[in-house]
Amino acid sequence: MNVEISTPGTELVQRLTATPHGARQARRLTGSTLAAWGHPYDGELNHTAQLLVAELAANAVTHGRVPGRDFELRLILLRERDTLRIEVSDARKDRALRFLDGRPEDEHGRGLVIVQVLASLWGVSERDVGKTVWVELSLSPRQRPPRSGTPRPCPRTPAPEG
Ligand SMILES: Nc1ncnc2c1ncn2[C@@H]1O[C@H](COP(=O)(O)OP(=O)(O)OP(=O)(O)O)[C@@H](O)[C@H]1O
Ligand SMILES: [Mg+2]
Repeated sequence: MNVEISTPGTELVQRLTATPHGARQARRLTGSTLAAWGHPYDGELNHTAQLLVAELAANAVTHGRVPGRDFELRLILLRERDTLRIEVSDARKDRALRFLDGRPEDEHGRGLVIVQVLASLWGVSERDVGKTVWVELSLSPRQRPPRSGTPRPCPRTPAPEG
């Protein structure tokens, strides 16, 4: 895996295969990159970022996968905004993200709920090929939402499918 770091210490861009292995690599790379940027593995920011990347990467390789196309992980440290921005881009444009009707017995439909609870902001942007699901996290612990509690409304809730 050749890791591209555009601006050392502030941005990482990595294309990964759209497979479960690629999704695991995205999570591991997030942990090691944030540790290198001064946010240790056992810290809350690193944990939260890994969890978010795991959910978004899992979605990219299951729902956003186009055969033969990679997905892309981008991490950007926006120190002037006290923010970590995470972007996961996949090749599928034709499917919108949607919250599933959550019944307690359901085994799926938790990923976006976790994203909404943990992220300071999140949304979906179109790109030339496919889309980018992005998440922003505050670097200051007191600015981050608590780990538990009721999901808050998302400022840019993805459009319903169809
Ligand atoms: N990257 C994506 N591309 C296309 N559709 C997506 C993408 N991410 C999510 N979706 C759609 O949004 C739905 C909800 O996503 P969510 O992550 O909440 O649940 P899930 O992936 O189905 O289950 P879980 O994450 O609990 O395993 C998905 O079932 C899928 O229809
Ligand atoms: Mg999911």
